[in-house]
Amino acid sequence: MALLFMCDGEASEPWRASLCNEIPDLDFRIWPDNIGNVDEIDIALAWQPPRGALANFSNLKFILSLGAGVEHILCDPELPKSVRIARLIEPGLRTGMVEFVTMEVLRYHRRADEYRFQQSDRKWKLLRQTLSQDRRVGILGLGYLGAACGDMLRRFGFSVSGWARSAKTLPGIDSFYGEDGLFSLLEQSDILICLLPLTSETEDILDATTLGALPRGAVLINVARGKHLVDDDLIIALDSGQLSAATLDVFREEPLPFEHPFWMHPKISLFPHAAAWTLPESASPVIADNIRRCRAGEKLIGEIEVKRGY
Ligand code: NAP
Ligand code: GLV
Repeated sequence: MALLFMCDGEASEPWRASLCNEIPDLDFRIWPDNIGNVDEIDIALAWQPPRGALANFSNLKFILSLGAGVEHILCDPELPKSVRIARLIEPGLRTGMVEFVTMEVLRYHRRADEYRFQQSDRKWKLLRQTLSQDRRVGILGLGYLGAACGDMLRRFGFSVSGWARSAKTLPGIDSFYGEDGLFSLLEQSDILICLLPLTSETEDILDATTLGALPRGAVLINVARGKHLVDDDLIIALDSGQLSAATLDVFREEPLPFEHPFWMHPKISLFPHAAAWTLPESASPVIADNIRRCRAGEKLIGEIEVKRGY
């Protein structure tokens, strides 16, 4: 039994060291140069595996995602049918995402960019401060990351609501679900954060209709996936003043093409998919636990429902 590490461009050595520290007898193979006997591989630890590549391993039983999202695995038309798949649920990702989302919400809330512009004109002028309780933050997706961001923001005093597939009871967070619930959430979100998984149901969810349902001048923070957002609809919403700003960490095509209009748009703050990284030092204990579960035939942490898409 061997684990195959499949992550293009990711230095494998820190992962090997850290996982072998957790499981000393782990047989750690590396795609594509150190695969060994393909029949021995039963687990793949993967980020954006090349399409069709996983079909080469006839004894593959488990795929562990190196990230929270799994759409990069599920999009493979040749994905072996009977494999079990787990997304990554780990505290380092959660901390990174909570930090990033809080940073951006506070930046807009405290009008930091406007002060920056004033500084460039040597302009000394106080801008009206809004109480956090009067700022309404809506979160699409109340899972591991969305709920943690909501919890932090409500501690800052923001008025926080969220939307999920199923009803939720989370302290201090108003929860909505279903199609009607989506529009109830949107119409009361001064700042909208997207933390949904990318599925057939959520693709293109941030379009002219949903962006148009936000209060005029709202802010969008998309830290989920680029395919949640219809790019042209965002530009129209920003140019018309329907939205006042957007933070984008994820894009339909990554890296974002050089000529894409998002790069130079004055109302867009852009990050290179940097909100929350998977680091071996925090993720390895969780992944090692899942490797042991695979081998013991137990339910995996974060095991997904393939049909549901997350
Ligand atoms: P998660 O725990 O699976 O949570 C997903 C949430 O979305 C759940 O609350 C789920 O509802 C809700 N949801 C799914 N489909 C829905 C639908 N059709 N309608 C309404 N709600 C729906 O996922 P997570 O760990 O929080 O991660 C969320 C996403 O963040 C990942 O999939 C990934 O794309 C993104 N991400 C981005 C970065 C970055 O660096 N930018 C880093 C990590 C993750 P239920 O609770 O009812 O199931
Ligand atoms: C990053 O985007 C992740 O899915 O963890």
